[in-house]
Amino acid sequence: MTELTIAVAKGRLHAETLDLLTRAGLIFSSEALSSRRLSIQDESGRFRLIFVKPADVPVYVEHGIADCGIVGRDVLLESDADLLQPLSLNIGACRIVVAARKDAPETQLGMLKVATKYPRIAARHFGARGVAVDLIELAGSVELASVLGLADCIVDLVETGRTLQDNGLRIIEVITDSAARLVVNRASYQLKADVVGRFIRCLDAKQRCASDD
Ligand code: PRP
Repeated sequence: MTELTIAVAKGRLHAETLDLLTRAGLIFSSEALSSRRLSIQDESGRFRLIFVKPADVPVYVEHGIADCGIVGRDVLLESDADLLQPLSLNIGACRIVVAARKDAPETQLGMLKVATKYPRIAARHFGARGVAVDLIELAGSVELASVLGLADCIVDLVETGRTLQDNGLRIIEVITDSAARLVVNRASYQLKADVVGRFIRCLDAKQRCASDD
């Protein structure tokens, strides 16, 4: 019987998340992992993974469809889901930055046009500085907005820095650091205290081992 359903973010965190879960003792058949199934069971039958878009992880966990989820802090900062965040994970380290073309002027006349897939983070960042911005929300390839002049600058995630570098952009300012977090549904945390508690302790122990390697 399934004891715990875990929402796993597809995309950049996917492989590292599966690796961490495997180190924590969950076993998945290669057949299940290589299939297009969006919900798979581990070999013990105790754990079920569901694979969803990063922004949907908080939604599934808040509604209790998943007990837990693993997702980036960047996504959580954009979400207003009411979740517990008991553990920061040592995977998916990156930064959220303001970036612009290397040849962009230092000062800007008029309203600053900012392209991003992180509208809340961007609005909070510039709002706190009293800078009026025209936010242009995009779904991806945000760097292009700066390259092609859709925006004066971008607010985006930087991991290796290659995308910025290869598109002639530079970091103007680091807004915050991000990494993956374990999120837990409030009711599951109470009602499944034993299994959730064991899962949290196990993930924590495994990632500590990995950082000692
Ligand atoms: C993210 C981010 C940058 C890139 C940064 O995009 O928005 O574009 O990765 O990574 P780097 O610093 O290692 O080059 P993602 O790959 O998630 O795709 P997207 O542009 O479609 O959102």
